[in-house]
Amino acid sequence: MCGIIGFIGNDALANILNGLELLEYRGYDSAGLAVRRNDEGESEIYKCQGRVSDLRKLVPSSNADFNCGIGHTRWATHGGVCDANAHPHRVGKVTLVHNGIIENYADLKEEYELEDYLVSETDTEVVAALLNKFYDGTNPKKAIKRTVKKLKGTYAFVIMFADRPNTIYAVRNVSPIVVATTEDNIILSSDPAALYKYTKEYFVLDEGTILTATKDGYTVENFDEEPVDVKMTVVDWEVSSLDKGGFPYYMAKEIFEQPSCIRRILSTYLTNDDINLGFDGKLDEALTRFNRICIVACGTALHAGLVGAHLFKKWAGMNVDVEMASEFIYSDTIVDENTLFIAVSQSGETIDTLEAMNKAKRAGALCVAVLNVRGSSISRVADYTLYTDAGPEIAVASTKAYTTQSLVFYLLALKTGMVRNRLSKEDLAKALSNLRLVPDAISAVLEQKDSIHRLAKEVITASDLFMIGRGLDYVVLMEGALKLKEISYIHSEAYASGELKHGPIALISENTPVIAAVTQEKLISKALSNVKEIKARGANVVLLAKNEFKNDFDSEYHVIGLPDLDDEYMTFPEIVALQIYSYYVSADKGLDVDKPRNLAKVVTVE
Ligand code: G6P
Repeated sequence: MCGIIGFIGNDALANILNGLELLEYRGYDSAGLAVRRNDEGESEIYKCQGRVSDLRKLVPSSNADFNCGIGHTRWATHGGVCDANAHPHRVGKVTLVHNGIIENYADLKEEYELEDYLVSETDTEVVAALLNKFYDGTNPKKAIKRTVKKLKGTYAFVIMFADRPNTIYAVRNVSPIVVATTEDNIILSSDPAALYKYTKEYFVLDEGTILTATKDGYTVENFDEEPVDVKMTVVDWEVSSLDKGGFPYYMAKEIFEQPSCIRRILSTYLTNDDINLGFDGKLDEALTRFNRICIVACGTALHAGLVGAHLFKKWAGMNVDVEMASEFIYSDTIVDENTLFIAVSQSGETIDTLEAMNKAKRAGALCVAVLNVRGSSISRVADYTLYTDAGPEIAVASTKAYTTQSLVFYLLALKTGMVRNRLSKEDLAKALSNLRLVPDAISAVLEQKDSIHRLAKEVITASDLFMIGRGLDYVVLMEGALKLKEISYIHSEAYASGELKHGPIALISENTPVIAAVTQEKLISKALSNVKEIKARGANVVLLAKNEFKNDFDSEYHVIGLPDLDDEYMTFPEIVALQIYSYYVSADKGLDVDKPRNLAKVVTVE
């Protein structure tokens, strides 16, 4: 939530605006920046409610001589969505942007009598006022240190002082800051998305350190003024991952990238006849030891975890707790040194998931992370991180992150089954040959986009839509329903078919749209009975079924035929069909597919 940026180098204004656009998925309630000219005077602040595109209209058109600045794109927490609450905030000599929440801002305001300096309702401006109070014009770092020691909460601050031209300071607690340099520029950002344009190498600023960036380079020191080494992270994503590649929305592009993302993971982790998770076999050995599995995540990542739970039960014979990170943190779920704790996160920054892993670590669990962004906060806590390397996911609605996270669970569950002697070599060989079919199966669904689009058109005026299925179908439909509701604003829920008669069936009336999945052959007759029950009550049913059975259903239902894989692997084509469906509903409603209302891609507040 909130994207912050700092930039030193030529053409700072243009670079900050471009960077903010790349961070906009972190929040888009307001946008702002402060830029200054070489050694001259105070920075100029431009900010407004709305998007970076609105901010572009405010900034001076002749802007090439700015060479230092900071910027912010906001997801509102403290204080409403308005110009005054937009960042940057300036009090006296201090101008800063902030990502995070300062919990004790009201106490600080009172204790240090800061009220008269404030024009906004934000917690951030209180920090600007406090820092300005502590800054006596001699030592900015000392003032920053003194200030952050007073703060309770999470923060990433990027700061400029009026009397320190060409200099940017940064400090953080929990909320991330990544830093990259090129020959001509230094760039600070909330996440690497804004850096790839410049370089594929960056470092994460450590908590408890202060970064000082000038046009000549940077220093990082701890609060005892000792220099701190930084550890570089390198990614191999293409810069082209950052544009829409000819698609109207990032979401469409990301849906279509899935076959190649899946192929990349398979080539990373599969040998001819085995799964190589890396770590010199240490993780494999660890997988033999625990007697409990706990999977924790949020949103789409949680749904990937639910797929994982099915697979662990099936292939490793283990019971699995799957919990929402926000609930897990305050729950009494048993986690101990015999627990395999798995956190799943695209960004690696979701605060609840991070806190959950911290809790599991304290309890002595073996902590494995399934992450997309290298160097992210969760990777720094985990004992082992398995990367999905799906490239930047820009659309707020997650697509390729889900399929790649799910795939990592297939590998992890199979490996666990093998090392615990639950699976034979033959079982593994069969599983691997199925997994190798997944990319083409997804491509086959992508080729059906026009027919799925036609079905999507029929629900654009619907207010509710239900999805029903059993077993793995139900789990995938939970993700499908999330996709549809978050980008189309149609109320959609997934129900386990067997539960319909215990309440939800009361919601079905004439023409209620329902998507029913019947891809699990061992459950098909039961699942179909449930479909018939709702059809008898007037539901307008779209069926997701294996191609093998399509002809049997065609006369009675609208059918989306899916490639015939073994049941366990149908999750992939099934979710891709639902992603395409949701995408078209949203696009045809004329909504902003990539930036749905009220949401943000990276949730760094509890
Ligand atoms: C937000 C995003 C979702 C994502 C969830 C968890 O809600 O909009 O797409 O699934 O956070 O994010 P993570 O980065 O931890 O996977």
